Amino acid sequence: MRVLFVCLGNICRSPMAEGLFLKKVQELKIESIEVDSAGTGNYHIGELPDERMRETAVSKGINLISRARQFKSSDFDQFDLIIAMDRQNKSNIISMAKSETDRKKVHLMRNFDDNQDEPDVPDPYFGGQNGFENVYNILDRSTENLVTYILKNSTRN
Ligand code: 4NP
Repeated sequence: MRVLFVCLGNICRSPMAEGLFLKKVQELKIESIEVDSAGTGNYHIGELPDERMRETAVSKGINLISRARQFKSSDFDQFDLIIAMDRQNKSNIISMAKSETDRKKVHLMRNFDDNQDEPDVPDPYFGGQNGFENVYNILDRSTENLVTYILKNSTRN
């Protein structure tokens, strides 16, 4: 099972989702799940995550060390699940899909949030520090439920 988290810049939301998801998977000693993240935009390629997101992560015991890269259509072949942080990213990803199989891989992150007050993980980039804390809390809940969803769906047959 290979999971890709996607936001716009790949420096705030999707690296945090990747870090949280990886931590949960490692704590459960699951070796069959791989994870990566990407951005639909090209503004920050090669950069570390935003310093404010990294600080929030470190305060929760997570180091974010990924480098930003752009989502590409071959990601549909490399990943089983593609999790978009907001509706705009989801529609941009789907516009690059080559088949119905590709399209079915794409989900919204907050569909896994059991405290969903809106469909999107809000973009924290132009806001203050509490936007980053809010993103962390949303992603903590959503990635927890995503792990459960994957484990449930991989034990069938
Ligand atoms: P992200 O946040 O999509 O969560 O990584 C953003 C980062 C950068 C920009 C927008 C959103 N930007 O416009 O540069």
